[in-house]
Amino acid sequence: MESRFVNALLLLTVFTFVHLINSEDFHLPRLNPVSIGHEQTMHLESGRTLTIKTLAVNPPIFEIEDYLTNIECDHIIYLAMASSKWTESTIKGKVDKDKEIRKFNFTKGDKNNDNFLDPLELWNVMPRLQNSLITIEDIPEFVQLYNYDVDGDEKLTNEEFDRIDINLAFQWIENKMKKDKKNVVRLSKQVWLKHDSDEVLRSLKTRVVSLTRLPKGVVDSSEQLQVAQYDIGGHYHGHFDTLKLDKRQCLHSRELDGIKLTEPYDAVKYRLCRYATLMYYLNDVDEGGETAFPVADNATVSEKVIRAGGNIGDLSNHCKDANLVVKPKKGKAVLWYNHLHNKDGWVGDKDPYSYHGGCDIVKGVKWIANHWITVDTDQQRHIRFMNLREKRRGVERAKQEYNQKQEEQAMKQQVSSQDTQPQQQKLQKKQHQHLRKNHKNQHLPQSELIGLEDKSYIRNEL
Ligand code: OGA
Ligand code: CA
Ligand code: FE2
Repeated sequence: MESRFVNALLLLTVFTFVHLINSEDFHLPRLNPVSIGHEQTMHLESGRTLTIKTLAVNPPIFEIEDYLTNIECDHIIYLAMASSKWTESTIKGKVDKDKEIRKFNFTKGDKNNDNFLDPLELWNVMPRLQNSLITIEDIPEFVQLYNYDVDGDEKLTNEEFDRIDINLAFQWIENKMKKDKKNVVRLSKQVWLKHDSDEVLRSLKTRVVSLTRLPKGVVDSSEQLQVAQYDIGGHYHGHFDTLKLDKRQCLHSRELDGIKLTEPYDAVKYRLCRYATLMYYLNDVDEGGETAFPVADNATVSEKVIRAGGNIGDLSNHCKDANLVVKPKKGKAVLWYNHLHNKDGWVGDKDPYSYHGGCDIVKGVKWIANHWITVDTDQQRHIRFMNLREKRRGVERAKQEYNQKQEEQAMKQQVSSQDTQPQQQKLQKKQHQHLRKNHKNQHLPQSELIGLEDKSYIRNEL
């Protein structure tokens, strides 16, 4: 009886909420950067006015101070801390060793055909381990450690190269990553929060629609919110948030192929398709932790790359060599586009200038959240995916409403006991103490943390 009622409710909701998006005249808006330093204003529903400042034109990068209120920042950190699903992005050994071994070839490496491998040529063919950053500056150490350069002329002949034990190379990289965290590409921990699970998170989606002018359906079908925390020495070396256009399908819409989000997926078949990144700084970092765009606006990149020994993405050593360095500040948002537009005004190829990363935390901790706007490069597939997500949301909403009704009924039936409220408060206090213990580096003032229990004033701030 009950389940039949739920089914009917679900069906009804599905029909109510499915809005088919007209595929014609469907293009992707893109904020015009105009010129560096240009300012545009943005009005929020709450009456607050924000300034969108252009930091770079190529790719368009914008900075918006006070995009999030302090309370919203603390709330997101609080939700993240309460989650048990944190993952660390340190050494996860999965790597296609055979592919790396095939690449490790003298002829392939000798780009200038002079029958020697200089350090840059050797670095290019050196095997990589997942999440490892080996720089050209590291190469002499490897060569000297195992005495591969017999004649000591700082370049390898074919015979010298043949003496290299590939397994020792893998081991050397692994040890380096363990010994020196600078050799780890991403040193942070992160957790995903569902945008639809909470009023504050839901309101962030509305704000992104106002900011980017993207259709609501695009924002609604984007990824969950990723919250990341860096400790001292934590960083994220140069990387792209998205991948180059190729035959692979977009990863975020794999549900269309019947693959559940929780299931493992085949990296040969799928790639990331993150049209834009909106990154939030959730706290003030005492020192370091800047976001660097080494090649933004291009201009002097080649000279800088040479000066940096070719490792402009090594942000532990070359943060300040980047063309653009953004200082973290609580509540500030940074928006940039990872993809170019194609001739139809839809997602084009990856923008090579969107290369970026997070510099070392020198003092304090750093909390950020990534609000990635995923758009399928295949427009038809994108539309199918938006519709699928809209259907799912309808089902979720129906379930939530049903549960809420059940709860309300149960509440009515329950004989109210005077004791319940103090007990609940005690429990919440205990939970907060527990969170503080598990996140020692967290600098939330007690008052703000406790204040979050009172959801009403969060609503007032929005
Ligand atoms: C990321 C990223 C930069 C930063 O998480 O993808 O680029 O400043 N972060 O933390
Ligand atoms: Ca050579
Ligand atoms: Fe990134």
